[in-house]
Amino acid sequence: KILIIDFGSQVTQLIARRVREMQVFCEIHPYDGAEETLKAWTDEKSLRGVILSGGPSSVTEAETPRAPHLVFEAGVPVLGICYGMQTMAEQLGGAVDAGHVREFGHARVRARGHTKLLEGIEDARNEEGHGLLDVWMSHGDKVTQMPEGFVLMASTESCPVAAMADDWRGFYGVQWHPEVTHTKQGSAMLQRFVIDICKARGDWTMPGFVDEAVSRIREQVGQDRVILGLSGGVDSSVAAALIHRAIGDQLTCVFVDHGLLRLNEAEQVMDIFARNLGVRVVHVDASAEFMGELVGVSDPEAKRKVIGREFVHLFQREAGKIEDAKWLAQGTIYPDVIESAGAKGKKAHTIKSHHNVGGLPDTLHLKLLEPLRDLFKDEVRELGVALGLPREMVYRHPFPGPGLGVRILGEVKAEHADLLRRADAIFIEELRGTKATARDAAADLCAEGDVGRNWYDLTSQAFAVFLPVRSVGVMGDGRTYEHVVALRAVQTSDFMTAHWAHLPHELLGRVSNRIINEVRGLNRVVYDISGKPPATIEWE
Ligand code: XMP
Repeated sequence: KILIIDFGSQVTQLIARRVREMQVFCEIHPYDGAEETLKAWTDEKSLRGVILSGGPSSVTEAETPRAPHLVFEAGVPVLGICYGMQTMAEQLGGAVDAGHVREFGHARVRARGHTKLLEGIEDARNEEGHGLLDVWMSHGDKVTQMPEGFVLMASTESCPVAAMADDWRGFYGVQWHPEVTHTKQGSAMLQRFVIDICKARGDWTMPGFVDEAVSRIREQVGQDRVILGLSGGVDSSVAAALIHRAIGDQLTCVFVDHGLLRLNEAEQVMDIFARNLGVRVVHVDASAEFMGELVGVSDPEAKRKVIGREFVHLFQREAGKIEDAKWLAQGTIYPDVIESAGAKGKKAHTIKSHHNVGGLPDTLHLKLLEPLRDLFKDEVRELGVALGLPREMVYRHPFPGPGLGVRILGEVKAEHADLLRRADAIFIEELRGTKATARDAAADLCAEGDVGRNWYDLTSQAFAVFLPVRSVGVMGDGRTYEHVVALRAVQTSDFMTAHWAHLPHELLGRVSNRIINEVRGLNRVVYDISGKPPATIEWE
């Protein structure tokens, strides 16, 4: 196992994903809560190495986060990234200076010496034959003096100690971020560290996980009954399928339909779970209640609160009717675990509050069952397919908990939700039905290798947004004065930053024509060309 110690970098999760891609198990723990796991894994001899993440702090400030000292005494290799390298330098007796110039973005570093970590890894060579690496840097401070035992591994003009190595102890520090794709050889560097230096074994696979998870669930719940809030999203769906595989009818799902779902979504959920898989599902059609509660509420965060609160209320009411349930199952996945740990320690900034069914266990006196806690999203999807869920559902774009509630700007009205649902369905249908062509690739809209794939799969999230303004149009002989929808399609690997998708104009044109012709009440379609940041993916 590899332990990743988090100092609050925005990209720590990417480190874990890269490690998992090598089929090596890893966990992220905050720097001030890692010691216990570190001790436990050391004792059971499963710890193979430690990675110290980057972070926003400066080691030169008075009270700054430090790695537990045990990290350096556990007898395993340690890789410090960015802040992780600086704290490593400082904690092992080197020195770090507050920098005056902030280096941010692409940099070309020169490899120095022969170290196990970078041996044979390079993007180019300079005239003297030294290896050069294209990396992604983001830092203000820099290491000015290496601790004893370390040699210089790489440098740039503005950052003389851009990387340092102690091959003997297996300690490495890099000022750049190998986990982001902008560092071209980043995966090779991490692979070198995890597989070659730490000698971690890549034996973490999906079929193995299913068997293990099924027996763990059986053991955990015994003969008890379990309730699960099914939303139709990937996580709760996969959790439901997995738990059903383990304990069959001991599981009851409660599907609270807030009336802000996509077109025909409720029927699809009931079809897949109740009819095909034979899962017991209580379908609560609560559109009227939700709409009632949302009257006069137009602030995005206020809407989220109302929807979240009402959701909890209805779920609780229904769950209360299920006799002798002892467990509440949730589709919590690993990024949620890290995110809430981060939020508690104020290590992450909350931009939008994301609702879920938090707070239920206390009032219902139920124990928590979270069988997906260790998995990343792609792993959850793989698991879903392995459990027999339709590919189309498992590889669906994410959909926010408050649903169309945050895609109808301002006050939510049922008739606007209907218009939006239909426009959105047309957009999605066209994306799914349109394949990227060689011409799209030639125009740089997609990569060569993407030709033949459909545009739904080539985007990470796509949807329509209802704008509560009206504009003038002309249809036939008549003047219209109707509403506008905006189309949003983004490409992203982590949803923290995103590019707007360069969709082919013909595709956009077709979607616009169809929406205006087929959805009475809409006479204008616009396309959102903002990136995140500065915009967010959702409009609210
Ligand atoms: P933003 O709009 O913050 O979205 O760029 C990032 C991702 O989060 C989703 N999102 C939500 N998911 N409840 C959710 O469950 C919410 O309130 C919420 N707001 C945004 C969004 O769809 C995107 O995938």
